[in-house]
Amino acid sequence: MKRTILLGTCATLVAIAGLQMAQAQAKSINEGVFTAEQATRGAALYKEQCAACHGEDMKGNDIMPGLAGDGFMMNWQGRALGELFDKIGMTMPALDPGSLKPEQAADLVAHILNGSKYPAGDTALASTSEALQQIKIDPPKR
Ligand code: HEC
Repeated sequence: MKRTILLGTCATLVAIAGLQMAQAQAKSINEGVFTAEQATRGAALYKEQCAACHGEDMKGNDIMPGLAGDGFMMNWQGRALGELFDKIGMTMPALDPGSLKPEQAADLVAHILNGSKYPAGDTALASTSEALQQIKIDPPKR
């Protein structure tokens, strides 16, 4: 009898844990998915490796696309953060693609989100494409 109760409790706990995981899987970039430290590291790296083309203010110019603001976010809305991570990791900086470490690409994603006024949170952005496929690029909550 005791055993049955124990098993029942275990099953409930597993179910709750499963639910929490399911929730964690469908996150939005409005939920504080990067840390402020990450964005700061990303900003320093951006200055070194990206600003020459995309502009100090991330606004781009006639030739280079901007990486902040409504235009940029419009392009990426509804897609997964993993795609942006892959785009940066695989194709940027344009003259030396593939040179960034995964952690650096994640820091740059954090800097880009910060630049578009998305909130920072307590958990750092993961540095794998798979993990970031679970986070959706939503319009900012204003
Ligand atoms: C030599 C110039 C150059 C440098 C340096 C450079 N980029 Fe780019 N980037 C481009 C060009 C040109 C495009 C547009 C073509 C493309 O999407 O590949 C682009 C596109 C992008 C896009 C997609 C933009 C969109 O609207 O979809 C992102 C994101 C990006 N770059 C991030 C970065 C980051 C982060 C760095 C620094 C590690 C970087 N770039 C460095 C030239 C550059």
